[in-house]
Amino acid sequence: MSDEVAVDIANDADMVPARAQARALALRLGFSRTDATLIATAISEVARNIVVHAGTGRIVMKPLYEQERFGLMVIAADHGPGIQDVDGILQSGYVSPNGLGLGLPGTRRLMDEFEISSEIGTGTTVTLVKWRQRDELEQLRERRRGATQRKG
Ligand SMILES: Nc1ncnc2c1ncn2[C@@H]1O[C@H](COP(=O)(O)OP(=O)(O)OP(=O)(O)O)[C@@H](O)[C@H]1O
Ligand SMILES: [Mg+2]
Repeated sequence: MSDEVAVDIANDADMVPARAQARALALRLGFSRTDATLIATAISEVARNIVVHAGTGRIVMKPLYEQERFGLMVIAADHGPGIQDVDGILQSGYVSPNGLGLGLPGTRRLMDEFEISSEIGTGTTVTLVKWRQRDELEQLRERRRGATQRKG
């Protein structure tokens, strides 16, 4: 899909284009500026985890189109060492020893869907989704456009 955006992550500077692309895609999908900022913040966290814990990786952002809602999916993947105790890290109250950021638990709270798949020695993939409900007027306009196109 042409709408999909990928940003390679190798150092902190790569967070800048990753954040910018996320904001741009979020605004294109009709998210509020506040939500666009929350999505960019979540991206900063997973990008920083790639840099600090895995070295290099890649972040892919995808628009999701449904009748009643639009979504922005973020897939942050690396071939780093993997995470030992995913459940432990996600448990509420966990604070990482030298943590400076929101960490994964904070990132989870920012987004609507959150999934980690990680295998020791193979790598980690964190998948995040934020949804935006579409209001009825927006859906009605789209149906009308569709009807006009079918006629024309
Ligand atoms: N992509 C990754 N590859 C390997 N280990 C990871 C990865 N992401 C997170 N981890 C492990 O999970 C732990 C928790 O991550 P989390 O982001 O919550 O905290 P942190 O990165 O240690 O600190 P911060 O609060 O600054 O984010 C990390 O300390 C690290 O051991
Ligand atoms: Mg972190």
